[in-house]
Amino acid sequence: MAYGEAEPAPSKYTFGDTEAATERLVTLADVFSRSSSRFISRNMQDVSRHAVDLGCGPGHSTHLLASASGAAHVVGFERSEAFLALAGPTSTHRVRFEAADVTRPLLTDYRADIIHSRFLLSHLPDTAGMVDLWLSQLARGGRLLVYEVDRVITDDPILQTYQRAVTSLLAHNGQQLEVGPVLAEIVPPAGVRVLTNQIALVAPTPERIGRMFYLNMLVWGSDEIVRATVSEDALTVLRRELVAMMRGLRDRRAVWQIRQLALERVS
Ligand SMILES: C[S@@+](CC[C@H](N)C(=O)[O-])C[C@H]1O[C@@H](n2cnc3c(N)ncnc32)[C@H](O)[C@@H]1O
Repeated sequence: MAYGEAEPAPSKYTFGDTEAATERLVTLADVFSRSSSRFISRNMQDVSRHAVDLGCGPGHSTHLLASASGAAHVVGFERSEAFLALAGPTSTHRVRFEAADVTRPLLTDYRADIIHSRFLLSHLPDTAGMVDLWLSQLARGGRLLVYEVDRVITDDPILQTYQRAVTSLLAHNGQQLEVGPVLAEIVPPAGVRVLTNQIALVAPTPERIGRMFYLNMLVWGSDEIVRATVSEDALTVLRRELVAMMRGLRDRRAVWQIRQLALERVS
């Protein structure tokens, strides 16, 4: 950035850090833990010293990274004070948490062996730019592991309404839920090789889908951007149907297509 130029405005995290947002992340962690843990362990080096979890929220992905990687030191970086206040007390002798904006260079006194990002890039501008920035923070032999939504597949009209609302909201903030196709096309810079660039499928139960979506809707259900996209009546029906799903009363289905990208810095 040239001298005197203004810093770009920080990106907004659209899904908030309220109690409902926290509860949603508990269900999300539960739903994706097996697939996410398998992705990490399959792309691990034999020995890792420093592992970093970007946009760690209340810390679920950081603890998962710690157990799947076996790294000696694991740091979760997060911008939300509310999430950090929840993550802090879960620190252990290997795992700690720090306040940081992950769109800026993070590491000053070491380079990481593992940098992990789960469900974060949907909320940041400039996917390729972020990947480049994070690659620059890796030690030689270090690996960047990215686990993001590629596509949410559903032919259910109620769940499609939900998708429409979320898509409009994220687009308003210059973001996109289905960031996987951008990741799939990333051309690694010189000195970086692709270890994995693949899709994994996760099919949560209707109860869990209902819970994740309902809790998310509590955060943004009254947002004017959403109201400009989805009618008041459709939002009322959506809310009612999600509650019914949570209670096991509806068999509405969706499958998450997850993009798993692992890059290694070879020089
Ligand atoms: C969908 S949550 C995922 C949390 C966690 N990675 C997981 O998988 O459970 C995205 C998280 O990224 C955080 N976040 C968004 N933008 C950020 C930024 N620029 N710097 C640091 N954290 C950020 C949000 O506050 C939120 O906690």
